[in-house]
Amino acid sequence: MTQHDADKADPQALGNEEAAAEIDRLSAEIDRHGRLYYVENRPEISDASYDTLFRRLQALEAAHPALARPDSPTQRVGADPRDSLPSLEHAVPMLSLDSAHDLDAVRRFDERLRKALGDEQIRYVIEPKLDGASLELVYVDGVLDRAVTRGNGRVGEGVTENARTIPSVPLRLRDDEIAAPAFLSVRGEALMYLNDFESLNQRRIEADEQPYQNPRNATSGALRQLDSRITAQRPLTVLAYDVLAVEGAEFDTDSEGLAALKAWGFVTPERIEVVESVDEIAEYHRAFGADRDSLNYEIDGVVVKLDALAPRRRLGSTSHHPRWAIAFKFEPRKEVTRIDRIFVSVGRTGVLTPVALLRPVEVGGVTVSRASLHNREELERKDVREGDRVRVQRAGDVIPQVVERVDEEGRERRPAFTMPEACPSCGTAPVEKGPFTVCPNHFACGAQLKGRITHFGSRSALDIEGLGGETAALLVDEGLVKDLADLFDLTEEDLVPLEGFAEVSARNLVQGIEERSRVELARFLVGLGIPEVGVTVARDLALHFRGIAELRAGAPDDLEAVHGVGPKMSTAITAFLQQPRVSEALDRLLAKGFELSVPEAPADDAPDDWAGKRVVLTGSLEGYTRSELKKVLQGLGARVTGSVSARTDLLVAGANAGSKLAKARELGVEVLTEDELLERIEGAEAP
Ligand code: IVH
Repeated sequence: MTQHDADKADPQALGNEEAAAEIDRLSAEIDRHGRLYYVENRPEISDASYDTLFRRLQALEAAHPALARPDSPTQRVGADPRDSLPSLEHAVPMLSLDSAHDLDAVRRFDERLRKALGDEQIRYVIEPKLDGASLELVYVDGVLDRAVTRGNGRVGEGVTENARTIPSVPLRLRDDEIAAPAFLSVRGEALMYLNDFESLNQRRIEADEQPYQNPRNATSGALRQLDSRITAQRPLTVLAYDVLAVEGAEFDTDSEGLAALKAWGFVTPERIEVVESVDEIAEYHRAFGADRDSLNYEIDGVVVKLDALAPRRRLGSTSHHPRWAIAFKFEPRKEVTRIDRIFVSVGRTGVLTPVALLRPVEVGGVTVSRASLHNREELERKDVREGDRVRVQRAGDVIPQVVERVDEEGRERRPAFTMPEACPSCGTAPVEKGPFTVCPNHFACGAQLKGRITHFGSRSALDIEGLGGETAALLVDEGLVKDLADLFDLTEEDLVPLEGFAEVSARNLVQGIEERSRVELARFLVGLGIPEVGVTVARDLALHFRGIAELRAGAPDDLEAVHGVGPKMSTAITAFLQQPRVSEALDRLLAKGFELSVPEAPADDAPDDWAGKRVVLTGSLEGYTRSELKKVLQGLGARVTGSVSARTDLLVAGANAGSKLAKARELGVEVLTEDELLERIEGAEAP
């Protein structure tokens, strides 16, 4: 039978051997064309011819399912959806990179290496620091075995089916130039090219779906889909940059490893260079920085790595980053815009926060239209007023912040903004507490009640779907809820007439609330918004007291028996719980009939390395206020404490950090800058 005949033969009619031969031939051909198209950017056949080959292979595999191979190109269309993503351990921990924010820090890095290794060893591989989601790809005997997201660096989520749909991920390693190793673990970055990202968003807008904020979010979303057929429709690319582990091949340098990755069929980052001096690194950083806005992908710096592998092993790693590499970051993107208005928002605890409403401006791909001005003192320090031109950036690439005022000569400025003399929500005269301005009317202030309701229903508390900020506001404004307990008296009839509610949503909310009267004690405690009590402390309190009555009866001394609770915290907790109004409100709430459970032992399989970590914040922070950062950290399960001791795990040092920093150094406590902290947080997930 000639080739031509085989193409036409009915797949059903083919014998096993013939079918197997054709499947092999077609797979190889489709792989080659796929590579020419996606990896090498020089297609040889039309899309239609490619589709014909592809459909033929699908038909053959359908007729001979036993012959379908796991590395078949047809596997790229996605598999049946799964219920959850499995947790998988990395072959080798996926560390993160230490970062340098200026050339001096790079010089210090270089000097350290020269001192440790001698000048002859010093050659650096330099490459772009890609801003996507990092991913481990593991090949066993040349075939893709699994793909794992970074997760906490030790354990990530298995996204193998999803990775299979990404055209630039080889399903089988090429071995025409270099034999495929028996085992290979590769680290790469999944990302979306900006033009692909824009067309994806365009399609979403046309389909009435919410567009993605930025390519990085779109990428991690696509990568972590439960339905790989959806991933298959997202324009993902993986660029490989590091051999994490290999058996059956050996390299002396990173450059050799990169060359092998290419030969095995991976796409590697462009513009990789090998240099010998800090001056060359500086020039590379400058040039890439200058091109940053015209690239078709997001980068946030350049990575500098020692090329020689043996000295890398000698230098080793800290628990978080290798000593032989550094990320030389770019300045965060800043844009100039104008403050249209400053208003004051009142939070759950009564703190009045001034917020700048900005003329919308795009900062690094995200439209920013408001930014917290934090508190009275910050506002005075920055001296920004309504109508001012200001420079804004996104701290840690997430939270918008006003960096500074941009002088406009000759333009008359409006008067300085002053904090209001009455709470904008309830009219009570606020009081000053340090840099903060606080509405003391905790029990009758509508804004605070709205905040409490939202917090009660939030994900780390009772997790009530549909009880977000807008609904809470509606319930309070309509007079339906005057107290958390009232939530449990809501009926469908109460809700249906409200704006935005229909029968189904009303029923769902009522049911959702009712279901949560059986909930873990720890969640309930989080929901009460007790000062100092975040997810971790709540969990420890629940494990210790095992009941709300026991906790309420506890004296400060009893509380201090709980791991991690010190005198200040215990006093704050008991004082709060014993306030008559709090106590009454809690009685009313408990009268609704809660079944509060406590697990037998702490669940310690949560894949986060923040749980229980003791973190101290010091110095002046830029991106977040201290209380914001504290909230973020507590949300991740960390404990934020006030003083440095030998038990401190981490000190975050802002500008002008003083004695705490010195003490941390003395005790050998790990010290991070705010940026480094934010970077580490990005990889983490709330428990
Ligand atoms: S090398 C042991 N090279 O940046 C560290 N990382 O904290 C090996 N990243 O999420 C990483 N581009 O995934 C390396 N060219 C590059 C990179 C890169 C982006 C990511 C990495 C990690 C973060 C560093």
